[in-house]
Amino acid sequence: MAYAQIVGWGMHVPSRVVGNDTFVKMGLDTTHDWIVSRTGIEERRIAGKDEATSDLAVRAARRALNVAGAHASEIDLVIVATCTPDHLMPATASLVQNRIGATHAGAMDLNAACSGFVYALAMGAGQIEASRAKQVLVIGADELSIYLDRRDRSTSVLFGDGAGAVVLRAAPEPGVLYSTMGSDGSGADLLIIPAGGSRIRNNGKSNGRGNGDRYLRMNGPQIFRSATQIMAQAAEKVIANSGLKPDQVDLLIPHQANLRIIESTARRLGIPAQKVFSNVGQYGNTSAASIPIALCEAIGTGRVKRGHNVVLTSFGAGLSWAALTLRWGVNVDAHVAPWTPIRQSVETQVAAMRSALRRQGRRVGATISERLHRDDS
Ligand code: COA
Repeated sequence: MAYAQIVGWGMHVPSRVVGNDTFVKMGLDTTHDWIVSRTGIEERRIAGKDEATSDLAVRAARRALNVAGAHASEIDLVIVATCTPDHLMPATASLVQNRIGATHAGAMDLNAACSGFVYALAMGAGQIEASRAKQVLVIGADELSIYLDRRDRSTSVLFGDGAGAVVLRAAPEPGVLYSTMGSDGSGADLLIIPAGGSRIRNNGKSNGRGNGDRYLRMNGPQIFRSATQIMAQAAEKVIANSGLKPDQVDLLIPHQANLRIIESTARRLGIPAQKVFSNVGQYGNTSAASIPIALCEAIGTGRVKRGHNVVLTSFGAGLSWAALTLRWGVNVDAHVAPWTPIRQSVETQVAAMRSALRRQGRRVGATISERLHRDDS
């Protein structure tokens, strides 16, 4: 059996930093101190109008490929975990696949809200373990800011935008030790963007409810209670099934939704604070991007070393949850070869040219077949 190892990682967040005071200045009935004391969030990144989810995802993906020293054309599968795709269809993963030049890859989106990245990591690892893929690009990318009602103080301060990516590669040793996924759809209404799908059409305008249904709605206290219990239970399960004891966990990276949820999860697991990573203060809740962004920053700050046991645990709308244990298998200080970014940039330009030529080719083909059809009739 093949094992799946993370060999590349990268993140990208929008340049626009929005501090808590911005909400106060906008007239929201809140304070910096309230937000920090109840959530730990000090600021978040918000995407610009021209910056779609795929734009963030592509930049994170290129960085992950650089670190992995991988050609985009060697990737077998691109999975984008997102609940805020560029379009309802096609999949954002196809847009990413085209732009990075992953010419031999399948591509699909995975929506498990904030749990999406851990779900996608488990699915990607499964493809490698079943020998159906050698390299899988797994991305978590979201722009929930688009769906926030700026008048709702209980949701608008919580979320930010971003993307994180990893390259999974077949290896003789694990890698991904164990994973679990779960869902309880009876809690679907606790965290929901009601419109935009087939249930509530035309953003709710047609049913006389205005366009309020296009915004994210949340029952904060219930989500809080569920998140603390479920993230700890899921982590306990993967730790035990990996044959580990809690004190053998070197780093816990929980979904970054709220510092109090993170601390409570760690307490329930008996994992001390110095073994828990959090950057929710800088980014808020970036949904499917939160764990890969945290992983990148944990690596960047020397918190992940070869041989470490790393536990990821996540929770989100659905309700959905997933957890996964990793035995970190690569040196994190392995520098990127100097020619890798140059090669990546050439590959990107070639991918753009290929994409343009294909589009042009399809247009020409359609015109010719139209003319032939006219001549026949
Ligand atoms: N500023 C000031 N007051 C706020 C506020 C804000 N930004 N947001 C909510 N409040 C108010 C509420 O309106 C409420 O006021 P009331 O007592 O007059 O009705 C009061 O604070 C207490 O509300 P409550 O919801 O009990 O606060 P809380 O301590 O539970 O914190 C959340 C609220 C949203 C921070 C918390 O419930 C939470 O983090 N839940 C989980 C959210 C989450 O992680 N979602 C994503 C999961 S993937």
